Amino acid sequence: MTKDDVVQAYEAQTFDPEAMLGTVVSRDDPDRRVIEPWAATVDGVILDAGSGTGRWTGRLAELGHRVEGLEPAQRLIDLARATHPSVMFHHGSVDDLVDMGQRWAGVLAWYSLIHLGPEQLPDALDTLRAVTENNGSLLISFLAGKELEQVPHPVAPAWRWPLSEITLALERAGFEVTDSRREPGSIFAWVAARATVEPISR
Ligand SMILES: C[S@@+](CC[C@H](N)C(=O)[O-])C[C@H]1O[C@@H](n2cnc3c(N)ncnc32)[C@H](O)[C@@H]1O
Repeated sequence: MTKDDVVQAYEAQTFDPEAMLGTVVSRDDPDRRVIEPWAATVDGVILDAGSGTGRWTGRLAELGHRVEGLEPAQRLIDLARATHPSVMFHHGSVDDLVDMGQRWAGVLAWYSLIHLGPEQLPDALDTLRAVTENNGSLLISFLAGKELEQVPHPVAPAWRWPLSEITLALERAGFEVTDSRREPGSIFAWVAARATVEPISR
């Protein structure tokens, strides 16, 4: 599946964003215990890359962070702008970031790169490194597994990655992993990483 196919899948009427993601973060969402403390460590503007309905962008703005969203699916960005009118949302994908000529102190990629396989994820991480300020921070969540494999997902096929391979891909892009977590028995995992000055060349 190409990256455009993935965006088309998020545009399709069969995907109900309000039911699957929600437009705001609920009070008892356990991911708040990961994302909110991470955001508090970021000294500068945060980019919510693949912001979907803008639920995390809106939540971080509500907490007083300077935050912008980036979303390629027009339908989702319309919903995000309508729900969080005071927040800036860029219409585009990770591939469009370099041309924007901007860098961010923190980048949140919350389940937004899960559809990228081994041919695509390294380039996306290179791009995220290029637009993250030196010593800035990345928080990425993904589907974890023992083997790198494609798995079904309600919107479009996704990939499960061993934590060791995500770590390697991040290091090659110029990030240093500072923390990670996968709850026992869960496929959901996250990694926090610091943008080191010298990316390791591939
Ligand atoms: C599972 S949703 C997660 C949305 C949001 N991060 C959240 O947690 O609510 C995946 C999102 O990533 C976006 N996406 C897919 N491919 C992308 C890409 N190449 N660059 C940026 N966003 C992408 C989709 O349009 C969708 O909004």
